[in-house]
This record gives sequence, structure tokens and C-alpha cells, in this order.
Amino acid sequence: MNEERDDYAVSAEFYDVLQARRDELRVHRLYAHAVGDARLGVLDVGSGTGRVALMSLAESRVAVHAVEPARAMRAPLMSRLASLPTELRDRVTVHALPLNEAALHRVADVAVCHNTVAALPPAERHALWPAVADALVPGGSLLLELPPSRLPVHDIVRALPIQRFGEHEYGGRMSMSTEGDRIRTRFDYWVRGSAGLLREHTETFWMWPASRDQLVDDLGRHGFTAVPGERNPDVLTVSLPS
Ligand SMILES: C[S@@+](CC[C@H](N)C(=O)[O-])C[C@H]1O[C@@H](n2cnc3c(N)ncnc32)[C@H](O)[C@@H]1O
Repeated sequence: MNEERDDYAVSAEFYDVLQARRDELRVHRLYAHAVGDARLGVLDVGSGTGRVALMSLAESRVAVHAVEPARAMRAPLMSRLASLPTELRDRVTVHALPLNEAALHRVADVAVCHNTVAALPPAERHALWPAVADALVPGGSLLLELPPSRLPVHDIVRALPIQRFGEHEYGGRMSMSTEGDRIRTRFDYWVRGSAGLLREHTETFWMWPASRDQLVDDLGRHGFTAVPGERNPDVLTVSLPS
């Protein structure tokens, strides 16, 4: 029996509220083409609330493996999947473990790792790559969203666009600062009504920067080669030999 992780316990409530629409378009733009070419299966590493998994169900005809260890993120993922027609539900399997504990062997020819690698410490990344290689068939490819390439020189603060739900407004901000070899990434969320602030919440994550070349090197040790001609600077595509 695996130990449940409590990550994203605060952020899960606000994740789709503040970021879903914009990220849905981005996920489609970055991965729909590759997912549409899948002939065996799609592996979604770090599914979160399910953006890549849902896009993959819509854009492919193959099995989708959604891997999500955090219970807080899995709850909205499962609710979304529960609302799908049976034909789509029959194609998606949720694995409630980190990928390196999920024992997936040759289940997919396309893997996507969106907005996930940045928050994995180097040791967890090193455990992830062989598990991705194992889950793919020969010739399979991995598309991953690159983490920040370096530590920020100055603190960065970004407001998340305000969203209205009935009488309330939801908002937040993300603040990034360097601490040692990591990026401290703090999310502050708030909910306001007509009389003012109703509640505030905070959750802090850590991110570890890595350059594209570093990741190509790391993945090379597990049999992956960079696919030439990558058009998006935020994505790295690597593949296994056929
Ligand atoms: C920032 S969220 C992104 C979720 C989703 N990919 C998205 O962009 O909406 C990163 C997710 O990766 C999951 N995760 C962390 N370590 C993982 C691992 N070793 N294997 C699979 N998923 C992992 C976390 O639980 C979290 O839900």
C-alpha cells in the first residue's frame, strides 16, 4: 500500500479556478499533434486535475494512462473523468502513485510531462527517467515542459488573473525567489465578496532549474535522444531507439 502524499492540498482548490482556461489552450498547442499520432497509448506523467489526460482522450483513439500521486489533485481529476461518457472512461486508467512506483511497462508510445519536472528534486527526476523509458515501447517519445533554465536573479511576482464566480472574486499571485540552488515558489490565493476579503491561503513549492542541455544529457543516460527540429522553446522532445 502506498503512502498518500498531501502535496497541493491548498492549491488544488484554486488550480483550475485561476489557471485552467489558459493552460488548456497551451496544452492543446504543445502536445495535441504528438498525442494525435499515438498508436498504442498516451502516458500523462503528473496529471494534476487532468488537462493533458482529457486533451489526450479527445485527440487520440488510444488508451490513456494518467499518473497522479497527490490525492488533492486526483480528486478533481476523478470528478472530471466521472462526468465523461463510458466510451471515453473505458480508455483512461488513473495510477495513484509516483510514476517510478507504478510499474508501467510498455503501455504507451507517447508520454507527456507538463508542468511537472520543475518541481521534482534532482533525485526524483533521476528516478523518473528510467520509469518513463520502461513505460514506453521502443521508438516511443517523451514531450516535457522544461523547468526554468536558471535561478532568478531578482524576485519575481506575478498576479494570477482574477476570476468571478457568482458574488465572489478569486485571485492570487505567484512569487519566485532564489534560495540556495532552489527556487522558492509561493502561491497566495484570496477570495473576496462585496464586503471585502473572505479568506486567504498560501502554499509554497520548490523548483530546481535545469537547462535543456542538462536534461538532454540526463535523459541520454536512460536511452533517450533529442528529436531535432523542436519548434517550441518551452518543450523538449526526446525518443527511444526503435
Ligand atoms: C504542477 S502539477 C501539474 C499538473 C498537470 N500536469 C498540469 O499541468 O495541470 C505537477 C503534478 O505532478 C505530480 N507528480 C509529482 N511527482 C510525480 C511523480 N514522480 N510521478 C507522477 N506525478 C508526479 C504532482 O502530484 C502534481 O499533481
